[in-house]
Amino acid sequence: MRTTVGIIGAGPAGLLLARLLHQAGVECVVLEARDRAYVERRQRAGLLEQGAADILRDCGAGDRLDREGLLHRGFELRFEGRSHRVDLPSMTGGRTVTIYPQTEVVKDLIALQLVDGPPLLFEAPVIAVEKADSEQPLIRFVRDGREQTLECEFVAGCDGSYGASRRALPADEVRLHERTYPYSWLGILADVPPSCDELVMAGHERGFALQSMRTPAVSRLYLQVPNGTDPNDWSDDRIWDELDVRLAADGWTLQRGPILAKSVSTLRSQVVEPMRYGRLLLAGDAAHLVPPSGAKGMNLALADALTMARGFIHWHGSGSSDLLDHYSDNCLRRVWQAQHFCHEMTTLLHTAPDADGYDRQMQLTRLRRLTRPTAAAAEFAENYAGLPLI
Ligand code: FAD
Ligand code: DHB
Repeated sequence: MRTTVGIIGAGPAGLLLARLLHQAGVECVVLEARDRAYVERRQRAGLLEQGAADILRDCGAGDRLDREGLLHRGFELRFEGRSHRVDLPSMTGGRTVTIYPQTEVVKDLIALQLVDGPPLLFEAPVIAVEKADSEQPLIRFVRDGREQTLECEFVAGCDGSYGASRRALPADEVRLHERTYPYSWLGILADVPPSCDELVMAGHERGFALQSMRTPAVSRLYLQVPNGTDPNDWSDDRIWDELDVRLAADGWTLQRGPILAKSVSTLRSQVVEPMRYGRLLLAGDAAHLVPPSGAKGMNLALADALTMARGFIHWHGSGSSDLLDHYSDNCLRRVWQAQHFCHEMTTLLHTAPDADGYDRQMQLTRLRRLTRPTAAAAEFAENYAGLPLI
């Protein structure tokens, strides 16, 4: 099999890239290790920045997003038992965010691709990317129990941090910057309407808690827990009791309901630098991870895909590799900005295992500045709503 761009991974990055290339007449094939049902049900991110929502609209994947997405004009920061609303439009020139789950973004892009898009092969795990430093890279994958080859002009590695693309990077050509935080998130999906119309982020001494949502009827909540936590050690009652303590504020009641899913993920930052080796370009989690506290993972994946698509479309139309040559630098500026914001959100709102009274005062001092009309608050709101995509 041959194609122009071989795309590994059908997450937000790979699917958006395929859609944009298809619309511009650039041939591509997407190879995905898992089956369709698995990819469409995997619970992950929930929040789209304005720029990411606009990319989806522009490529024709905005109908359901506009009908079912929940537009949020602000969120609450909660500490010392009090709520402080952060108003986004007034501090960001009118920008907002939308709650629209990653599962739905992925479903919409897959549906479009299966109607008239380029080939999307499920259950086709890639085992290796070879000859990435040559003009004719190739992808080895397995389909129906048989090993096959996809010859390409370029390979787009959109297969997450454990995929085959990262394994194809020679250690002496790229650097991996990494930080693992000393805490994890226990996330639950609950069959109960959210207790608040907007997101609530609590920086409690016992640890971080977040009230988010997936639909007007389904809540998504998170608790900071120690690394190595087994979700089965947390009964439903224990989870709700702890959420009650950390999210407590005057006049507010947390609604409880049946817990539909529980999982634990470690908070991690990673950046692969540069995001390109020869004719293999990385996008999304394959190139970088951010701790979820800043809600940037899916947004960065979509921004990378847009930048990469522009590079391929320019190269295909003009023969010039100018944009592709600047792909990594252009993405990394945004990526490091997001890393900085996510790091700040994480250390601001979580309680480290060795934290003392001094650390707590540092957090509270910063939180008070962010919840008054200061320049710091405006910068914080801008980063949360997302920097404009250029
Ligand atoms: P992915 O969505 O991971 O897609 C990669 C695809 O590649 C997958 O479909 C995978 O099956 C496929 N693949 C992997 N290896 C191969 C292979 N060898 N061959 C073929 N295909 C392969 N972000 C937030 O903002 N908020 C959150 O609450 C949040 N929660 C998260 C929870 C978890 C458990 C994880 C892992 C991530 C979470 N994120 C969250 C991050 C966000 O979901 C990711 O940043 C986003 O999914 C990145 O999109 P992507 O397309 O780069 O990668
Ligand atoms: C969600 C996750 C986040 O990290 C965040 O900051 C906001 C929302 C979510 O999963 O809904």
